[in-house]
Amino acid sequence: MDQLNSARDKIDTCDQLIINAFEERMEAVEKVIKYKQEHGLAIYDSKREVEVLEKVLKNVKNPENIEAVQYLYQEILMISRKMQSKMLFPFNIVLIGFMGTGKTTVGKVLAEKLEMDFIDIDSLISERLGKTISQFFHENGEVAFREIEKAVVEEVSNLSNTIISCGGGVVLHEENITNLRKNGKTILLMANEETIYNRIKTDQSRPLLKNGMGIEKIKELLQYRRELYTKSADVIVNTEGKSPEAVCNEMIKIILNN
Ligand code: S3P
Repeated sequence: MDQLNSARDKIDTCDQLIINAFEERMEAVEKVIKYKQEHGLAIYDSKREVEVLEKVLKNVKNPENIEAVQYLYQEILMISRKMQSKMLFPFNIVLIGFMGTGKTTVGKVLAEKLEMDFIDIDSLISERLGKTISQFFHENGEVAFREIEKAVVEEVSNLSNTIISCGGGVVLHEENITNLRKNGKTILLMANEETIYNRIKTDQSRPLLKNGMGIEKIKELLQYRRELYTKSADVIVNTEGKSPEAVCNEMIKIILNN
């Protein structure tokens, strides 16, 4: 019994040390945040994480603990990234723009870089409806789709620390943008009509372009929407000739400086 109690005392002491060290670590993380904020750097620095892990593993005395320490540190690094992210971005980043401007692709990369959550409104709608957007358009029409889109937009606008990728037509209803801007910065992704056409010409998932798909149709829709897109945007990023990675890095600098 004495042995058990003394081992438990030892555990309590270790836990206290762990907590103290963890809190000190978090304070240091806060300092890193301030630095990254001032210098427009990405939250996720894979090189630094590898370095941290290597250093930690070198200090493990009992080789049997290596796997557990590795696991523990992956969790600690994730917690620290998420904490940095929540502090830097207590708001949502809302990606708007025409079909094929890269909202979803860029959004996923950005979410990973900034350790933010990611939501694609079209995917969410499709998941809830149990059918593709194209199928829903075909069966119920655009007006019915816009009503569902509005409700989902209102719901996701209440989130925080989330990258929200919107369908291209989200700007058609002003209330969507008002909702999304309550706790979000809107970023408009732009691309040339030819680029958009080349990106989506073989994609059958866009109901508005299914019939009469062609560059003329894209021009016509864009012509009508151009002003809506610009007035809905807090920031405009041209994606022309840039990789998703490059677009993200540009966005991070802009967001941090705003
Ligand atoms: C639409 C764009 C689509 C989808 C629906 C309507 C639009 O989303 O919401 O087909 O009106 O521009 P993407 O922009 O993600 O393709």
